[in-house]
Parts: sequence; structure tokens; C-alpha cells
Amino acid sequence: MCDRIGESKRLANGDAERLDARLGCNPPNLVLIGFMGAGKTSVGRVCARRLRFRFTDTDLLVERMADKTIAQIFEEDGEEQFRHLEQIAVARISRRCGNVIATGGGVILNPVNVHNLRRNGVIIWLQTQTEEALRRVGDRSSRPLLSEAEYPAKRFEQLLVKRSPFYARAADYRLDSTGLRVSEAAESVIALYRKGIGL
Ligand code: S3P
Repeated sequence: MCDRIGESKRLANGDAERLDARLGCNPPNLVLIGFMGAGKTSVGRVCARRLRFRFTDTDLLVERMADKTIAQIFEEDGEEQFRHLEQIAVARISRRCGNVIATGGGVILNPVNVHNLRRNGVIIWLQTQTEEALRRVGDRSSRPLLSEAEYPAKRFEQLLVKRSPFYARAADYRLDSTGLRVSEAAESVIALYRKGIGL
């Protein structure tokens, strides 16, 4: 799945000319996608501080919209309602510029989300090896897709295999952050973002 540790890669979308033609705002957003536990939120916060961008997490927007935690939304209203709110949150945040946007792990399953995020953003897929991601996810109680599974590690792998092609299609660049400190991963992410906007 991952190539080399700490490796970054330009994907088919990550061509500076194609990106330039695509991006409709200045400065474009830096969008982090990837599976649960990849470090999107912690790396995203550091990127935002260094770039002096605003930081937004789509899960937090959804929680604010519903006035409930993600776990409560899944439990009381179901995943479908969560995905509905997520689409609204992504549409709103994608209209802005100069934001670092950390997304929920399933955001790329909805083509409308991908379309919106791509309009104004360079998309970076943050990858981490399973053991490290599971360790970061911790007790899993805030991740209903894992906490409800009988064998979380197996469920994790199954979802990851299913989703990887979606991440690959949506992303401009990919960074394997396994073994990297948050500040190191942020530095590599910013370098990819700069490459994406031709700096
Ligand atoms: C989800 C990932 C979570 C959150 C929700 C669903 C997913 O976000 O959006 O529990 O489908 O992978 P993180 O990736 O930030 O954990």
C-alpha cells in the first residue's frame, strides 16, 4: 500500500499546469484527505500556523451544525445523516480560500465533495501504516465505524482497501507520514502544496 516510509509522490492530478487551470482562488486551500488516524487534524493545524492560513476540520463543522458529537450523530441519526451534513460542511468550506481543510476519512466517497474540494484546493493524501494509525486512533470511541466493529483492526484494513482507490483518484499528491513527527509531516505537506501552486 505505502511505498517508502516518509515518501511523497505526485499523483496523476498533481501537475502544476493542470492545477493552475483548476484552482479558482488565491491562495488556494490546502486539503488533507486520508484514512482515520493518518494525522490530518494534527498535521493540518501545524500547516495552518506555518502558512498563516485558517484551519478548518470538516468533522468539527459537522459537530457544530448538529450540536452533537460524531458518535452521537451516528448513533442517533445514522451514517446517512452524517454524510448529508458532511456534504453541506464541505460545500461551505470549499467556497473559501486560504484555509487548511482537514477532512473526515470518508469524505472522498461522495463525488460532490471531491468536486467541491478540488475547485479551490490542492489535495494531499496523508497515509500511515495500519499499526501506527490504529495506535493514533486510540480507544476508537469517537470513531463509530471502528468502535462498532467486532474486529476493529480487520474492519480498518477492509475499509482502507476499499477506499484507497478513492483517495488516489481525488488527490494531487500523496505523503506517507509513517514514522514522521507531526512537524516533519507538516513540512513535507507544505512543500507539496507549494509545488502544487507553482512556488
Ligand atoms: C469517518 C472518519 C472520521 C469521521 C467519521 C467517519 C470515516 O473522521 O468523519 O467517524 O468514514 O472514515 P477522521 O478521519 O478524522 O477520523
